[in-house]
Amino acid sequence: MSGAAAAIRSEGLPQAGRAAARRVTVLGSTGSIGRSTLDLLARNRDEFTVEALTANHNATLLAEQAKALGARFAAVADPADYPALKDALGGTGIEVAAGREALVEAAERPADWVMAGIVGAAGLEPTLAAVRRGRIVAFANKEVLVCAGSLFMQEVATHGATLLPVDSEHNAIWQCFDFERVDGIEKITLTCSGGPFRERTVEEMRNVSVEAAVAHPTWRMGAKISIDSATLMNKGLEVIEAHHLFRLPSEQIDVVIHPQSVIHGLVTYHDGSVLAHLGTPDMRTPIAYALGWPGRTAAPMQRLDLAQVGRLTFETPDPARFPALRLAREALQAGGGCPTVLNAANETAVHAFIEERIGFLDIAAIVERTLEKMPQVSLDSLPDVYNLDKAARDLAAELTVARARAHG
Ligand SMILES: NC(=O)c1ccc[n+]([C@@H]2O[C@H](COP(=O)([O-])OP(=O)(O)OC[C@H]3O[C@@H](n4cnc5c(N)ncnc54)[C@H](OP(=O)(O)O)[C@@H]3O)[C@@H](O)[C@H]2O)c1
Repeated sequence: MSGAAAAIRSEGLPQAGRAAARRVTVLGSTGSIGRSTLDLLARNRDEFTVEALTANHNATLLAEQAKALGARFAAVADPADYPALKDALGGTGIEVAAGREALVEAAERPADWVMAGIVGAAGLEPTLAAVRRGRIVAFANKEVLVCAGSLFMQEVATHGATLLPVDSEHNAIWQCFDFERVDGIEKITLTCSGGPFRERTVEEMRNVSVEAAVAHPTWRMGAKISIDSATLMNKGLEVIEAHHLFRLPSEQIDVVIHPQSVIHGLVTYHDGSVLAHLGTPDMRTPIAYALGWPGRTAAPMQRLDLAQVGRLTFETPDPARFPALRLAREALQAGGGCPTVLNAANETAVHAFIEERIGFLDIAAIVERTLEKMPQVSLDSLPDVYNLDKAARDLAAELTVARARAHG
């Protein structure tokens, strides 16, 4: 087997050469994934130059990042934040822009490697813009693939883009997956910490606070993915993501709870061999692999000390207490627009939970109800995706209001 894992490409096989100094764009640079990426870029200044950085609102941090890394272009999604960004970057020579089109422009500017680090389906357009330029896309923004699925993968194929999985589980599987002999693969396994409520009863989860839900036991991440980890929806989204990235049906994608988050992903072969990827829970490891691919980039995180970890334990997820994983699998199996609806409803409900309008258990209930009430449709084009995403958000928002009354 070659030293570097194959990339997820249109033809399923690799390999791109490695330029001397990679020109990098980071979509969502102010977020958790974005900051980890920039940390690695700052530590490896000779290997990378920065083309463009983007944020939603956080103009202050975006401007600091752009100055520190010598970016050429910085963009905020919300035009209301444009004056602050412009003021902060005045006289630096860094180009500044705002609005959805500015994010697309950031993704289209010349870069060898683009980090898709925006959270939610809001990342679809800019990520597609990078794909349509045939870029190497380090892929963290899983909601894009849940929302647009096969249509997104078709764009990757059409434009010869390269997807490098960044989600730790998918990155782990990518490193263990024999792309040249896929027939030998029996199944893949995504590990899952179980989240902060792994041992709670349903009753004990009813009134949990937002603060408790975002307090992930092993990973430090943005609020939305932390809450998805608490409901286990994150693992459901990841099953759908893995289905598209590795072209496997749901039955060949296992999930196991592993509270220590040391093993990130496993590939089981037909001869009974199981290849696993291990590491300390720090997103800079998978990001560093994607940054250096097909080589390796130095990364500073604490090295794994198995004797210190002591014990690795595993459990089966409990579908009764955590229905979100079941909902995601059902949506994948139902196909068509169901994953789009699942994602839109989940984003809407998580947002309402963060704003304390609904309770924690309402999140999965709203997703389930939205899936039940939305007509099942097929998706033939990206405009279909945008329309369905909007309709599902509208319905989920209505259901959220009804739940909010009960909650309040
Ligand atoms: N964090 C992790 O460890 C981790 C691990 C695996 C996968 N992921 C995936 O990576 C993605 C990013 O997660 P994260 O934890 O880094 O999220 P995060 O900390 O919330 O950061 C999200 C980034 O996207 C920007 N953003 C938010 N809403 C936007 C919008 N509507 N339009 C444009 N930009 C927007 C944010 O800008 P502002 O700062 O201005 O709000 C920020 O730069 C998610 O899809 C997540 O599932 C994350």
